[in-house]
Amino acid sequence: MKLTVENITEEAPGIRALRLVAPDGAALPPYTPGAHVDITAPGGIVRQYSLCGDPADSGAYLVAIKLDPQSRGGSRALHGEVAVGSVLEVGAPRNLFALVPSAPEHLLFGAGIGITPLLSMAYALAADGARYTLHYFARSAEECAFAELLAREPFADRVRFHYAVPRDGLDALLDDCLAQGSNAAHVYTCGPAPFMDRVVARASIGRPADAIHLEHFKADPVAPNGEEHAFEVELASSGQLLAVPPGTSIVAVLAEAGIQIDTSCREGICGTCIVPVLEGEPDHRDHCLSKKEKAANDQICCCVSRSRTSRLVLDL
Ligand code: FES
Repeated sequence: MKLTVENITEEAPGIRALRLVAPDGAALPPYTPGAHVDITAPGGIVRQYSLCGDPADSGAYLVAIKLDPQSRGGSRALHGEVAVGSVLEVGAPRNLFALVPSAPEHLLFGAGIGITPLLSMAYALAADGARYTLHYFARSAEECAFAELLAREPFADRVRFHYAVPRDGLDALLDDCLAQGSNAAHVYTCGPAPFMDRVVARASIGRPADAIHLEHFKADPVAPNGEEHAFEVELASSGQLLAVPPGTSIVAVLAEAGIQIDTSCREGICGTCIVPVLEGEPDHRDHCLSKKEKAANDQICCCVSRSRTSRLVLDL
């Protein structure tokens, strides 16, 4: 879709929110809370951004962009080269971080810009009258994007702000927050990886893995377990065998053989390149499949993941 930037709000230092609308004012494709879209920044870099508006508002998509000092062009261009009236290419919404509607309670833990997918969840949960609490961790009130919005109805009595929590006090605070909810509550977290690691570690005490949900914002360097090994992929439809050497991705090998797999981030975070696996055990190195999905070993993110077995049979 080509969408027009209708409005820009500076939400916090280095964080701007873009309201994107169809040029003809038409309704946009619907999305579920926690969904994200690909946005092509000026210069052609594609990045994923969570939709942080009200999912019931079909007239616009709201995204918040944090200026990354290490930016390879994506956030820098969206901050420096985009103004009201700019037109951006935006992909269809996808959701790898969905709410579980059957959960009796929802505990949301966001840190920094990780608040964005939780915001669309909070809108939906508030509209449904669901039981939820949003814990928002930030360095200070000034650096808290959407703080004013969250301090108003319908969120005010469901949001807890936690500022400048020292690293050695985080676990105790998380335990406190978790203890205020029921053991059957589902936990959702988004933010920097070390923060999410702590939330997952504390929430895992007495809670099954499939009640904990996380969304990575940015690919961390995915450390291979030891060296990269060569393996083969077999295409189920034709039986064709392709060798995947160390240092080369499955996507690249398939492209070489004339098989184009759709990709977007190429960093294991967006889920565009997921392909079903019929045989073999993937070595999952992505951040988009859940723990449970990885354990099932029946799909693979072809841009970053590899194989633990000498052959993987792909449903291609
Ligand atoms: S292209 Fe984004 S996960 Fe593979």
